[in-house]
Amino acid sequence: MENKNRAQFATRLGVIATTVGSAVGLGNIWRFPYEAGAHGGGAFLLIYILFILMLGIPVICAEFIMGRGTRSNIFGAYRKLHSRPQWAWVGYIGILASLMILSFYSVVAGWTLEYFFQSIGACFSDTSSVDRHQVFDTFATGWRSPMWSIIFLIVNGCILLRGVQKGIEKVSNILMPVLFVILILFCINSLTLPGAAQGLEFLFLPDFSKVDSSVLLGALGQAFFSLSLGLGTMLTYASYFSDKTPLVKSATTTALLDTLVAILAGIIIFPAVFSFNAEPTAGPKLVFEVLPSIFYQMPFGIGWSTLFFFLLFLASLTSTISMSEIAIAFFTEQLGMTRRAATLLNTGIAILFGTLCALSFGSLSDFTICGLTIFNLFDYVSSNILLPLGGMLISIFVGWVIDKKIVKAQLQGAGALLPWVLNLIVFSLRYIAPIGIALVFFAGLGII
Ligand code: PFF
Repeated sequence: MENKNRAQFATRLGVIATTVGSAVGLGNIWRFPYEAGAHGGGAFLLIYILFILMLGIPVICAEFIMGRGTRSNIFGAYRKLHSRPQWAWVGYIGILASLMILSFYSVVAGWTLEYFFQSIGACFSDTSSVDRHQVFDTFATGWRSPMWSIIFLIVNGCILLRGVQKGIEKVSNILMPVLFVILILFCINSLTLPGAAQGLEFLFLPDFSKVDSSVLLGALGQAFFSLSLGLGTMLTYASYFSDKTPLVKSATTTALLDTLVAILAGIIIFPAVFSFNAEPTAGPKLVFEVLPSIFYQMPFGIGWSTLFFFLLFLASLTSTISMSEIAIAFFTEQLGMTRRAATLLNTGIAILFGTLCALSFGSLSDFTICGLTIFNLFDYVSSNILLPLGGMLISIFVGWVIDKKIVKAQLQGAGALLPWVLNLIVFSLRYIAPIGIALVFFAGLGII
């Protein structure tokens, strides 16, 4: 069943750097703080951690089992593991979701580039009286926003062209340690600000009055989005793991490091927000409007601002690389394209839809479907519908449909896995994950 000639990650560090690189992204540093800010702070964090442990880790294991068990892209993995072609359709959901996410994600990733250069430019001008809301509005509604998203996608494509080991693994091995060092520097700075305790209280003290079923769905969508789950990213990366990679350990490490980064992002952002009397519930604009004005009031503010947007850029890049690989692996293995053609096709589709997403803040802002702009529609449909649906189907498939021997052999791998751990994961995949995801999913959509 296995294709031995397939590319593989060279080292264990490469496995962790690539999977954590995929998981850690705008979802942790941009999306998590504003979702937590708007939905009960510590209450949201608690629910989120619960979902990561109970639903996230088993579903990562399921993707790892399918990926390494078949050494195939998501569509090929379903085909190889089951004779009925219907299951392979779930593969299409993943590929569609990956292209939708790449399109809107590259817009925000492009903003990080604009703000990185704006921060450098601030060395040469006086920024103290600048209206940050105005700056964001003018930029996001103009032509520079689609321009940056296209530039970002071209950088992303160039790395992917270099292949699995020389492109994806090498870049992740370099960027992830840099990212962690920058994060720690920011935490130290934030914790020493006057009034930091108030920000920490906001992040860690639960306010359950703001929690309802839509918040639960939001937290579930956030957990899946943050772990890059439900669309086959982890499956595709696991298809490049060696036989020696311990799946359960790698899944747990990825989930824990990803959650740590989300918490660190909260520790960076909320003390700063409270210390400068800003609004913690500002939503998606929190990072682009509120933070720059805070940075410019700090000592060495230009340096902090430049470093912060560089951090966001690095985090976005390792994530877009991973989501692009889903479609690229599909195009090369199922449609017989060269890696070059597959990368160009993936980049071309993302440039087209990414531009539409970018314009939905400006000239296309009046164009809505079900009351949502193109950007918001892509975000909502992929994160809140396709990812949970994909995750639910993957857990059912691995828990109930495929041969138990494959599941056990993959989970046990080369090392000895304690029997109770194995049983717990199998139990979660059969019952907890599908039922848990289904309940939150249908309640959040108002169906039950
Ligand atoms: N996990 C990434 C983040 O938190 O920003 C987003 C993401 C990456 C989602 C890869 C989906 C994906 F396939």
